[in-house]
Amino acid sequence: MTFINGGHHITLCVNGAQEDVDFHMGALGLRLIKRTVLFDGVVPVYHLYYSNANGDPSSIITTFPFKQAGVIGRRGTNQAREVQLAVPVGSLDYWHRRLESYGITALDVEILDSRRLLFDHPSGVEYVMVEVADDPRVGWTEGGVPLEYAIHGVYGVGIHAYAPESMVEFTEDSFLKQDKLIEDGDRVAFKVGSNDGPGSSIEIIGNRKADQGTWTYAAGTIHHYAWNLGNLDNQSKIKFDIEGAGYTDISELKDRKYFKSFYVRTPSGALFELAVTHPEGGWTCDESPEELGKAFQLPSQFEIRRQELLGRLETITTRHLEIAKA
Ligand SMILES: [Fe+2]
Repeated sequence: MTFINGGHHITLCVNGAQEDVDFHMGALGLRLIKRTVLFDGVVPVYHLYYSNANGDPSSIITTFPFKQAGVIGRRGTNQAREVQLAVPVGSLDYWHRRLESYGITALDVEILDSRRLLFDHPSGVEYVMVEVADDPRVGWTEGGVPLEYAIHGVYGVGIHAYAPESMVEFTEDSFLKQDKLIEDGDRVAFKVGSNDGPGSSIEIIGNRKADQGTWTYAAGTIHHYAWNLGNLDNQSKIKFDIEGAGYTDISELKDRKYFKSFYVRTPSGALFELAVTHPEGGWTCDESPEELGKAFQLPSQFEIRRQELLGRLETITTRHLEIAKA
């Protein structure tokens, strides 16, 4: 019996690295748990990981500051478009004020019968805050956000699609879609996986007006959404199911040091990652739990280039921690 335990992480390409650190650690008060580099390609680009207090799977946002490579993307249809974050019930007024105090415009809206807060990352990527009751994931408070407001983790992903029904079909064929479909105008919401695990929500927004969004690594766009497949055996079985259903646009297994992953291009255009934090991986495989994110970490194949890479990457500071503690 295969299973999916909700989300694992969401990855986006942003502009500058410092701007991204300021947004996630400053405005959102998230914890920087890892700073390394993109393992693909030849241009050195940071890979930054942010999380809640404990680095739970489903709480992770990772970014590639692609200004370094000079590639700017297009937000459009057939692409993941919304980073959806779960926050405590009753916290949206706090977040509205906090975001505006950081110069970020926030918009109150009602979607799927509940209030949400919409705002943008400085690179233009769309963010949404959704209030969730009884979320067990613990928010990070050392970034200056009190526990009663702190972000639990990722709620889900919003995807713009030319043909939403083909994406629903994909999840029914091979992605353990749960039965319930909720519709609100051109938006359909449902959950995938074996339970209502955190980060298991998908919302598909019908969009036949926009041009095709960028699929490459490119600043200002979401690159992929990763699912938590628990263990390597389950991961290979789900890959087999996906291929068996005919979705053969799926990668070989990639070793991302902290986890191992396949990637599959879905019919909505959104790229999904099937991730497993394996026993030799995890955030603490190269740093202690207390030291997470403090040092620049490289996989062994890049270690020989450490000085060269550091020289070519934008210098970043994490002064927010000191500001939050002051
Ligand atoms: Fe990923």
